[in-house]
Amino acid sequence: MTNYQEAEIQDLVLSGQLPRHVAIIMDGNGRWARKRNLPRFAGHRFGLESVRKIVSECAKRNVEVLTLFAFSSENWKRPQKEVGVLMDLFMTALKQEVKKLHKNNVRLKIVGGREAFKPKLQALIQDAEDFTQENTGLTLVIAANYGGRWDIMQAMKRMMEDVMSEQRSMDSLGVGDLDQYMSLSELPEPDLFIRTGGEQRISNFLLWQLAYTELYFTETLWPDFDESELAKAIDSFSSRQRRFGRTGEQVEQVAGA
Ligand code: FPP
Repeated sequence: MTNYQEAEIQDLVLSGQLPRHVAIIMDGNGRWARKRNLPRFAGHRFGLESVRKIVSECAKRNVEVLTLFAFSSENWKRPQKEVGVLMDLFMTALKQEVKKLHKNNVRLKIVGGREAFKPKLQALIQDAEDFTQENTGLTLVIAANYGGRWDIMQAMKRMMEDVMSEQRSMDSLGVGDLDQYMSLSELPEPDLFIRTGGEQRISNFLLWQLAYTELYFTETLWPDFDESELAKAIDSFSSRQRRFGRTGEQVEQVAGA
């Protein structure tokens, strides 16, 4: 838990001041490199620097969860060499950063179809998660071989297994019941979604979980996204009124109570 009490957080979240969960599509590494006549992989290497900065800044700002889209289920379509570079970067980052994350009380969680990765990478992922699982500070979620449709489908399959084995009844199923089967089930839903790199789309990221999330798009390319860029995104978030289907007057009453 952060410096804030649970009830205070609820109020702050309702009045839109503090994001508990920030989710980011880190786009623009390739363009950043091309602008400097560098190969695309150089953009990904510098992108990792931005990851370090933003993880540390989120921890400082008492953000509870930071979810980063590192590799989508569609990214396998990229040139084989680039896929290889991204996998190597992921392995190196896991090897080099885990101790530092642990020292900073960060809990690491990887979501996505990890069976597609080489056994060595799968083992590194498992070790990193085990090593940091008791940490109580920022939860850093890395979405790797992840797709929003995949997530809904795997959740649906597991829920139907429970229906078929009669642990659940079909008639009692409601919208919220799928939540507990989703990849981020035990975490609060994202409050603030950020996409860098100028595109304004969700690209099969957290489709189910983004239902009420505030969306923020910036032209800034991911390797240029730093602490001041994050501050701009959080300021934009703080200036919005989140209504969750209620009226503006109802929200003002709750916030003022
Ligand atoms: C999108 O930029 C970025 C990615 C597909 C990979 C993101 C990876 C990192 C930031 C580094 C590794 C991170 C971790 C957590 C280990 P793009 O290549 O699509 O850029 P473009 O749109 O300019 O081509």
